[in-house]
Amino acid sequence: MTNPQPAQVDDSRAPDWVRHAGLRKWVGDMVRLTKPAHVVWCDGSQAEYDRLCLELVASGTFIKLDPKLRPSSYLARSHPTDVARMEDRTFICSTRKEDAGPTNNWVDPQEMRGTMNRLFDGCMRGRTMYVMPFSMGPIGSHIAQIGVQLSDSAYVVVNMRIMTRMGQAVAEWLGEDGDFVPCMHSVGAPLAPGAKDMAWPCNENDKWIVHFPETREIWSFGSGYGGNALLGKKCLALRIASVMARDEGWLAEHMLILGVESPRGGKSYVSAAFPSACGKTNLAMLIPPAAFKGWKVTTIGEDIAWIKPGHDGRFYAINPEAGFFGVAPGTSEATNPNAMKMLRENVIFTNVALTPEGDVWWEGMTAEPPARLVDWRGKDWTPNCGRTAAHPNARFTVAAAQCPSMDPKWEDTAGVPISAFIFGGRRSTTVPLVVQAPTWEDGVYMGATLGSETTAAITGKVGVVRRDPMAMLAFCGYNMGDYFAHWLEMGRAVHHPPKIFRVNWFRRDANGKFIWPGFSENMRVLAWIVERCHGRADGFETPLGIMPRFEDMAWVGLEIFGREKYAEISAVDGTAWRSELGSHDELLGRLGGHLPRELARRREKLQESLAA
Ligand code: OXD
Ligand code: MN
Repeated sequence: MTNPQPAQVDDSRAPDWVRHAGLRKWVGDMVRLTKPAHVVWCDGSQAEYDRLCLELVASGTFIKLDPKLRPSSYLARSHPTDVARMEDRTFICSTRKEDAGPTNNWVDPQEMRGTMNRLFDGCMRGRTMYVMPFSMGPIGSHIAQIGVQLSDSAYVVVNMRIMTRMGQAVAEWLGEDGDFVPCMHSVGAPLAPGAKDMAWPCNENDKWIVHFPETREIWSFGSGYGGNALLGKKCLALRIASVMARDEGWLAEHMLILGVESPRGGKSYVSAAFPSACGKTNLAMLIPPAAFKGWKVTTIGEDIAWIKPGHDGRFYAINPEAGFFGVAPGTSEATNPNAMKMLRENVIFTNVALTPEGDVWWEGMTAEPPARLVDWRGKDWTPNCGRTAAHPNARFTVAAAQCPSMDPKWEDTAGVPISAFIFGGRRSTTVPLVVQAPTWEDGVYMGATLGSETTAAITGKVGVVRRDPMAMLAFCGYNMGDYFAHWLEMGRAVHHPPKIFRVNWFRRDANGKFIWPGFSENMRVLAWIVERCHGRADGFETPLGIMPRFEDMAWVGLEIFGREKYAEISAVDGTAWRSELGSHDELLGRLGGHLPRELARRREKLQESLAA
C-alpha cells in the first residue's frame, strides 16, 4: 500500500478518558520527536482490533486464513532479519556498569539517551503512532503494573491487545496521577510521501532493545518481532519488573504457573523456570496419562510469574500476561492437545507455513507433512526441498482465555499460593530426573547453576551447556549476583517458602535415546513434587538432595518403565558431577564480589558430599 499522507500531525489530542496530564505531555513530546503522520489512542475494543486486522490485510502484512478452517485468524510473515529476540542488541543502561553486571550488555545511560534521541528523531514519519495503555496483570490487582507503549506498528497493537489488558479501561484505572512505565517502540522505517510500504516494516541494519532500569523506561528500535516489540512481555514484565521486585521485595520470574489437583483432595500451585525451548508451554497445559486417575493440571501462565509475599506467610503468584506468544513448531495433538484446541480460532500466526486450503502448518504438527505448502518466506515448499516450512521460532499469539486448561483463578487479583518452585533444563547427561533441595539456600544454588543444552534453533550449535540462572540470563535487569542475593533474602521474607526442586526430562541413554517418555508422563514427577510438599511422599538423601526411590513414585499405566531405566535416569555419577561443579564456577566466578557468600558455601558443601 502506498502512503498517501503528508507528514503532519493534526490529531494527537487525547480522548476524554485520558485524564493523566503526565501521560498527555509525554505523548506530545514523543510526537514532536518521532513526527508521525497520525496519532491513534487505542481503546482496546474488538471493533478497533477488527479494523486494524483489515488494514493489515490491505497492507499485505496479514493473510486472512480460511474462515472455516481457522476462523478469525491471520498469518504474518516477518522480514528474514527480524525473526527472534536479539540478546546481543539488548541493553541494560544503569548509571553504573556494575549494576548491570557481567551477564548484560551495558552502555552509559547518557550516551544511550543521545543514541535513542537520534534514532527516534523523525522515525515515525509517514506512519501512525498508536498509544496503548496496558496492564500487566488483572486490572485492579495490587500485583499488576501499568505501561504505556507508543508504537508505529499496527501488528504490535493487535498482538498487544491479545497479550495484555490494553486500552481505555487501563487509562481509566491509571487516573490522573498513577505510575506507568513509558515504552517507546518504532520499527525504525519512516515512510516517504508516496513511498510503497513493506509487508513487514523494520530496520534491517539497526536494532536496539534498551532498558533504563533506574528511571524504568524502555526504548525499542528497528524490530517488529515478539519480545523486541511487544514491550509488556520480556522488557517490562521481566527486565524492568525484576528491578522493581528487587527494590520492593517480590519476585519477577521467567516461570510458568500451574495448578495440580490430587485424588487425595486439594489443589496445589507450582511455578517452574525452564530456559527457552524446554517445553514450558506443554508442561503448563499438561493432560495427565489416562491411567493416572484423579489428577488434573490447570494453567495459570506459561512464561512469566510475578510472586509476592502474602499475609499468611506464603508466596502468591499472578500471570501478568493475558495471552500466549508461543512457539508453534513441535506443537501437536500428541504433545499438547490443549494448545491445539486453543489455536482453532482468533489466532495470529507469525512465520508458520500456509496450506493450499488457507490453513497453517508447522514442523511436528502432523506426522506426515502436506504435499505442498507456502513456507514462512512466501516460497513454494515441498517435503524434500531441504528447507523447513515454518521458521523454528514461528509463533502463535492467542488469548489465554481460549485455553481449555485455564484455572478458574487465573485472573484472581490476589494470585495463587505457591507450594513449589521447579528449575529444569535440557541435559542429556549428569542431571537426574528429579531432586528436592534440602533447604531454600540449596534450592537457590540449584536455580543459580541451572544449565541447558542449546538447540540448533537458538545458537546453531547443538549440545553445548549454557548456564542460564533461573532461566533469567536474558531477562534479569540488574547484576546477576545481586539477583541471587535477592532470592536468598526472599526465602527469609515468608514463613512458608515454597520447596525447591530440579527436574530433567531430557537425559539420554548410551544409544542417544531419551530415557524418560516426557510429555503427559511428567505428571508422575509433578505428583511426587506435590506430595512431597504435603509430607505425603518419601524420598532418600543423596549428595545432590532428596530423590524418590523407584517405589516412591506412581507407575500405574507405565509398567514398561522398570527399575533398571529408573536407575539409569536417576544415577548420580561422581566424575560427571565433579566436572559439572567446575562448569558452575565458570558463571559464578564471573560475578566476583557480587556472588553471595552463601552460594559459595553451598558449592563447597556439594563438593564435600560428592567426595564422601
Ligand atoms: C520466549 C523465550 O519467547 O523465552 O518466551 O524465548
Ligand atoms: Mn520465555
